Parts: sequence; structure tokens; C-alpha cells
Amino acid sequence: MKSIKVMSPSSVANLSCGYDILGICLDHVGDEMIITKTNSPGISITNIKGAKLSYSVDKNVAGIAAKSYLSKNPSKFGFEIEIIKKVAAGSGLGSSASSAVAAVYGIDYLLERNSNKIDLIKHAVDGEQFASGEAHADNIAPTMFGGLTLVRDLKTLDILNLPFPKDLFITILHPEIELKTSILRNVLNKKISIKKVVKQTANLGGLISGLYSNDYQLISRCLVDEIVEERRASSIPGFYSLKESAIQNGALGFGISGSGPSIFSISKGKKTASSVKKGFEKVYSQKNISFKTFISKINYEGVKVFEQWFTIV
Ligand code: HSE
Repeated sequence: MKSIKVMSPSSVANLSCGYDILGICLDHVGDEMIITKTNSPGISITNIKGAKLSYSVDKNVAGIAAKSYLSKNPSKFGFEIEIIKKVAAGSGLGSSASSAVAAVYGIDYLLERNSNKIDLIKHAVDGEQFASGEAHADNIAPTMFGGLTLVRDLKTLDILNLPFPKDLFITILHPEIELKTSILRNVLNKKISIKKVVKQTANLGGLISGLYSNDYQLISRCLVDEIVEERRASSIPGFYSLKESAIQNGALGFGISGSGPSIFSISKGKKTASSVKKGFEKVYSQKNISFKTFISKINYEGVKVFEQWFTIV
């Protein structure tokens, strides 16, 4: 029997002006999964640490993604999955995407198929769809590829890796409350004014230009959400105080990470990112809510296998 341990990083989706299409991969934070290849076919979830999730393969993001993968890539082997959640479900940090990506990437690795990551993403999206009620890959793409990604088209999986200036640091505040993505997708307006669409697309174009040209000020001007933020901000305690604090401390941008409750800020340089972090902590020290804060660089690698071993008894 061969086992591997997979590290599947967390991510920040939307990045203000890129609802459902932009995402960045975070460093040193994410979920782990131990996958063991067995001699009898089938998938089982044998252990879940750090979260109360279903052991039923059909009701668990990792199980659904793994089944989707094996339906298109049949194998005479089976797989036992142990999920080690280090990031809470419903945190806004792409927890379900981490599980879905770890399962498909890990099983493909154990089968030595070395599949194209785009082919793997299809199956991870099936898992994500179960978690949030709608297919989207803005967390899955950065977790799979690393870096900063743009999902230009979900149907054809036209996914681009965008460049970014080297001195970007992300500050995260995670209020320890759970928000369900499926509910926060339902609060969004299905009709959006053409004026807002114009502003959002202008910011998206400007952001991409700023990323290519390392223009921090242009990036800053474009990290604005005209469409989603106003509908979701009230679910995040102290959202506008956190925003004000981030701006006062010199952040380039601030917004909801995915569907929240985590919020993110992007800064030029670690010093500014640390001031932003201290500002967030000050705002939350006045609230009766547990929270975590951390600073991350953008992770270039994405999902990876970081341990493997054989059991021969
Ligand atoms: N783009 C998604 C959303 C990310 O904002 O609903 C969370 O899964």
C-alpha cells in the first residue's frame, strides 16, 4: 500500500472586481489529506480531523471530487482518504476547494497518471458545486496552479495564470463564524445596472494591466467591488471599520475573501501588511468574536505532495 500526504493551499477568491473569476493562492495555510492506494477498488473516507464533515463519499466534497475523477479515469485500485482540515469550512478561504483539489490531485498522483491540471480541475469543480450549490473555479484554480488566476470561461476551462508584482503581501482576518457560500450566493442581485457592470469591467481591465506593469497605484485604484460587496458586507461584523482601518494603514486594497466571513487586504511590502494586521486586531479587540489574523505571500506552487511512504506489513 502506498500513502501520500497532500498539502492543498487556501485561497482568496473574487479579489474585489473579479467575482467568480479571480483568485490567489495563499502560502503556509491550507488543508492536508492523507490518501492511501489500496488493492480493492472504491473510495472511503476513513478519518476527518479538525471539522465535522460527512464520512459519506456522496456527501463530502473530497469524496464527490474523487468519484468524479474515477468515473472518467477508472482504476482497479481503491483509495482511503483521511482529511485534515486546518482551515474551517465556511471561512471564505476556499476550504471546500482545498479538499476537492487535494483529492483529485492526490489520486492522480498515486495512479502515476500525471494528468493535465486542467483535466483535474473539472472533477474538483464537481466537488465545489456540491459545497456551494453552483459550479465555480475561482478558488480551485489558484489552489491547483498556485499564483493569481483568472477563470475566463468555466465551461471550456479556459484558465489563465496572471503575473503579479513580487512585493505583494496579503493580510487576512478570519472571524471565527461560519458563513455558508450557498446562502451568500443567493443574497446577490440577479439584476445589475449597466453602470455597475461598466465600472466593474473597467476595474477588472485596469487591475490586469496593473498586474502586468507592476503598477501598484493602478492595482490599488482597481481593487474595488461594485457588485457583490454591498450585498454581503452586513454579514461580516465590523466590515466597514476594518475597511477604513486597512486604508488608513496604507493597504492597496481591501475586500471580502470569497463569500466571507474572512476579509483580505493587499499591501505593498511586509511592513505595511503588518500595520494593516495590527489595525484589524485593534478593530476586532473591541468585538466579542474570536478571530485569527495572518500575513501571506502569494504561493507560486499550489497543491503538492509533501510526504509519501509504503506500508509493507
Ligand atoms: N466566487 C465565490 C463567491 C467564492 O463569492 O461566491 C466562494 O466560493
